[in-house]
Amino acid sequence: RIAGPSGLVIFGVTGDLSRKKLMPAIYDLANRGLLPPGFSLVGFARREWEDEDFAKEVHDAVKQHSRTPFREEVWQQLAKGMRFIQGSFDDDEAFEHLRKTIQDLDAAQGTGGNFAFYLSVPPSAFPIVVQQLKKHGLADPPNGSWRRAVIEKPFGHDLASAQELNRIVHEVFPRDEVFRIDHYLGKETVQNILALRFANTMFEPIWNRSYVDHVQITMAEDIGIGGRAGYYDGIGAARDVIQNHLLQLMALTAIEEPASFHPKALVAEKLKVLSAVKLPADLGGHTVRGQYTTGWQGGEEVPGYLDEDGINPESTTDTYAAIKLEINNRRWAGVPFYLRTGKRLGRRVTEIAVVFKRAPYLPFDAYATEELGQNALVIRVQPDEGVTVRFGSKVPGTSFEVRDVTMDFQYGESFTESSPEAYERLILDVLLGDANLFPRHQEVELSWQILDPIEKYWDSHGKPAQYPAGTWGPAEADEMLARDGRSWRRP
Ligand code: BG6
Repeated sequence: RIAGPSGLVIFGVTGDLSRKKLMPAIYDLANRGLLPPGFSLVGFARREWEDEDFAKEVHDAVKQHSRTPFREEVWQQLAKGMRFIQGSFDDDEAFEHLRKTIQDLDAAQGTGGNFAFYLSVPPSAFPIVVQQLKKHGLADPPNGSWRRAVIEKPFGHDLASAQELNRIVHEVFPRDEVFRIDHYLGKETVQNILALRFANTMFEPIWNRSYVDHVQITMAEDIGIGGRAGYYDGIGAARDVIQNHLLQLMALTAIEEPASFHPKALVAEKLKVLSAVKLPADLGGHTVRGQYTTGWQGGEEVPGYLDEDGINPESTTDTYAAIKLEINNRRWAGVPFYLRTGKRLGRRVTEIAVVFKRAPYLPFDAYATEELGQNALVIRVQPDEGVTVRFGSKVPGTSFEVRDVTMDFQYGESFTESSPEAYERLILDVLLGDANLFPRHQEVELSWQILDPIEKYWDSHGKPAQYPAGTWGPAEADEMLARDGRSWRRP
């Protein structure tokens, strides 16, 4: 799988995402020999840069963040195809300059007219950028070539805004040429959910309401909001990651086996699950939002959310969110899916825990099973990638006691191959036109449809609960599970 002749234009190229993820990913792809020799990278931004300044910026980003070793010859080859366009998004001259630059690159680098436009810009800028691409003929592929739009999240902030964005983008680019990024789908461990479920026989028979008690999906981060106040305040944890990453994890955990690995077949299954999601009638009792207060993390005292730079001191933005969902279908009816995420939690960990029902009968003395929990299969998405199975085992000795033990699969031990960074995989797929790992517009809209009533409920019901930085979230979240006779895992 090597990309054919092509190039990438990044709008918003001076941003954090571009420097930390996109530029290093492009270099790593080149270093692994997965890009065509004449691959071209065009940056578009307001900054007063020349081509050389842009190349230097990419060089620094690569040195700092790329995963593969720096090789001068790879860099030199890549640098030949780098150009910078200075301008704002409403600047017609800049878009004309872009059009000419693409033509020149076709001639000089052999890009064949194939270009993807990566919108690493706030959603408010999507419409103007796609309209400018249309106006300057950049969205129309010259004979036999392709033009694609790549769109970063957040894709809107509710159902209505997402529908509007989809409408605008689809007016300019055909549906199959629009790639919406959810970088969680680019993670190896997330793709492995499909292998675990559908390449094996032993898990699938128990993957249903007869055996599964509930599912917990956790995405915990230890970081605060860093320099992202402008984006985060008013958006919050649920819109930032539940609407996309966590609902995608839930969908992959819950879907039926797709008829094939064709993108349409996979999307069809995800859509069925997302449309079968049922929210609890009592949103107050089964959802919790929280906001971190000052606390300790990594031996350091860190400020509370309201004291972070750039945050409105009256802000009611959630930095923690926990919700309960059910899926109304034959496989899952009555099985709760608990989703939680938060900033400044105990540690960084993302996992999907499928927790099984207790054995119907335990033929042991009561004391023997006091330390026996429920069986669980835990997909460890990051950082300690792998899968854990928890089950009961006899404690060695002359009496008969049963205690939980675990069986672990670790990526590092089982594979010598290294995992590509999510963005590497996704950028390569865009250039190859492989849409399997990109949510379609209906998925995005259904996910907002799930979240909208919860956000609306929160808006009209007071303030988020508080939790000190470095803890596992507000007490209210523990109470939410306790009400169902369950408790959160401490990963
Ligand atoms: C992004 C969110 O989508 O994912 C961030 O906007 C979050 O708030 C990030 O920190 C986490 O990504 P990862 O890959 O580090 O888990």
